[in-house]
Amino acid sequence: MKPTFTRLFASLALAGGFGVLSLGAHAADLTIDCGATANDVQNCLPYAEEWAKKTGNTVKAYTAPTSSTDKLALLRQQFAAKASEIDVLSIDVVWPGVIKDHLVDLKKYSKGAESKFFPAMVANNVVGGKLLAMPWFTDAGLLFYRKDLLDKYKIATPQTWDELAAAAKKVMDGEKSAELQGYVFQAKAYEGLTCDALEWVYSFGGGTIIDKQGNITINNAKAAKALDTAASWIGTIAPGGVLNYAEEDARGVFQNGHAVFMRNWPYAWNLAQDKDSVIKGKVGVAALPSGGSSKAAALGGWQLAVNKYSKNVDAAADLVMYLASAEVQKKRALNGSYNPTIPDLYKDADVVKANPFMGQLLEVFTSAVARPATETGLKYPQVSNAFWDAAHDVLEKKSNGTDAVKKLEAKLKTIKRDKW
Ligand code: GLC
Repeated sequence: MKPTFTRLFASLALAGGFGVLSLGAHAADLTIDCGATANDVQNCLPYAEEWAKKTGNTVKAYTAPTSSTDKLALLRQQFAAKASEIDVLSIDVVWPGVIKDHLVDLKKYSKGAESKFFPAMVANNVVGGKLLAMPWFTDAGLLFYRKDLLDKYKIATPQTWDELAAAAKKVMDGEKSAELQGYVFQAKAYEGLTCDALEWVYSFGGGTIIDKQGNITINNAKAAKALDTAASWIGTIAPGGVLNYAEEDARGVFQNGHAVFMRNWPYAWNLAQDKDSVIKGKVGVAALPSGGSSKAAALGGWQLAVNKYSKNVDAAADLVMYLASAEVQKKRALNGSYNPTIPDLYKDADVVKANPFMGQLLEVFTSAVARPATETGLKYPQVSNAFWDAAHDVLEKKSNGTDAVKKLEAKLKTIKRDKW
C-alpha cells in the first residue's frame, strides 16, 4: 500500500515516540493474533487500531483457535511453510523454547523497556540471549466461588480440596437443583488439563512432573493421590461433561449461575462482573485449595512476539512494544482483567479497585508454579501431552493414580532418552 499524506504526517508526528516509520517508509498492513475469545479481541484490537492510526499503518485481527494446544499445532504448520500471514503473534508462556527459531529478537526494538517488567517473565522469553517476546499478561489458576451461596450455607472459603468437595456437596444438597454443579474446571485432554492437574499434584506435595534439574519425578504416591482425588469429584460434585471442558466451557456453566465453584484464569472475573451477568456481585475469588502440602496455582500467561517470516518486522515490533506498554496494559487490566506483567501496575489504585484479587492475591501470582517447559525445551509439547493423557485416564477411571504415574514415568523416559 502506498503511503498517503496523512499516514506520513502521522509517522512524522510520532517520531521519537511509538512509530518506527519515517518519511519515505511504506505503511504496513499488519495482522495480529489478539487471542481467540471475544474478550481477547475487544481488549486488543482497539489498541492495535489506535497504534495504526497514530503511525499511519493498518491492522486487522487474525482469529486463532481458542485452545493453546490447537494454536501451537497451527503455528507450527505455518512456521514450517514460512508463512508471513500473521505479523504479531500472541504466544503461550510455555512456548518460547518450542518456537524459538521462528521469532524475531526484540532487543533492538525494546530499548530496555523490559527492565520495568517482572524479571522472571522476561527471562522466560529470553532464549539463547535473544528477547523473543514481551510479556503481555500473566495468568495463575484461581478459585472462583459463589459468595452468596457460601454465605447462605454459612460455609467458609475452602482451604483444602476436601473442604471444597464437602462445601460443594452441602450447597448442592441444599439447593436441590438438578442444574447446579459443585465444581467445574478444565479436564479436557489438552494443555489446560496439564495446568489443572499440575495444581492438584503440586498441592499434594507431588512435585512438578519434572524437577528443575530435568529429573522425572512424577512417579510418586502424592501425585497418584492427587489424581485419584480429582477423579473422585467426577460424577459427585462435577458433571461427567467436565472431561471435555476447556476454560470457556467451565466459565459458561459458572457464568450462567450453574456452579458453586470454578477453577479458571483471571479473565473470568471481569466477565462475571459484566452488567448483564446473572452472577454479578455474587462472586468471590480465592487461591485454589491445598492438598495438604501447599496451595498451588499454575503459572500461565501470554506474550507478544513477531513472526520471523513477517514482511513487516519493524512495524510489527513497534506494535508489540505499544501493546505491551504500561498504558495499554492498564486499560486491559481495567476492562478485561488481564493481569499486568509490570509490577508497578499492581500498585495502581484503579487496577486494584477494578480487580481486588490482583491486590489481595498478589502472592498467588508471584509464586505460581511453572510447568516444566524451560527444562524440557523443544520436547515440552510431548511431555505435556503425556501428562494430560495420564491425568485424563485417571479422571475417566480408565486407570488409577498409582498405575498412571508409573506408566507416565516410563513414557517420559522414552521422550527424554538421554537428554531433554
Ligand atoms: C491460559 C494460560 C496459558 C495456558 C492455557 C491452557 O491461557 O495463560 O498459559 O497454557 O490457559 O489452557
